[in-house]
Amino acid sequence: MIAWKESYDIGVEKIDCQHRQLLLKLNEFFDACSNQQGRDKIEETLGFLKEYTLEHFSNEEELMDEIHFPELGDHRKEHAEFVKTVLELEEAVKTKGVSVLTTIKLNRILTDWLLTHISKCDKLIGEYLAKRGETA
Ligand SMILES: [Fe+2]
Repeated sequence: MIAWKESYDIGVEKIDCQHRQLLLKLNEFFDACSNQQGRDKIEETLGFLKEYTLEHFSNEEELMDEIHFPELGDHRKEHAEFVKTVLELEEAVKTKGVSVLTTIKLNRILTDWLLTHISKCDKLIGEYLAKRGETA
């Protein structure tokens, strides 16, 4: 179980809510994995991620666009990479079936996403917004 830390909040309610919602799903998946049910849960989790990223990433990108966030291009690339990884995993599951390896891989990708993308990259959006507020 990973607990949400207030430091993960970027200060934009809609985005923070979506991030918390993602964490809930991740925890469900981690839970299933530790109960040896990761294999059953993987398809559901991948299906969720496909829909979730569609909405969440476009919301985040719209926000970055609106505020003229300087690193929008790089950030967008990271989102695209994540979507690609999810699709690749889905394809692997479809063609080769669920394996322990895909389960471990998804586990690692999701943890990395939370610890590096959300808590570092997305955080920069919040910091940029705060700085803008000060100078406005
Ligand atoms: Fe992001």
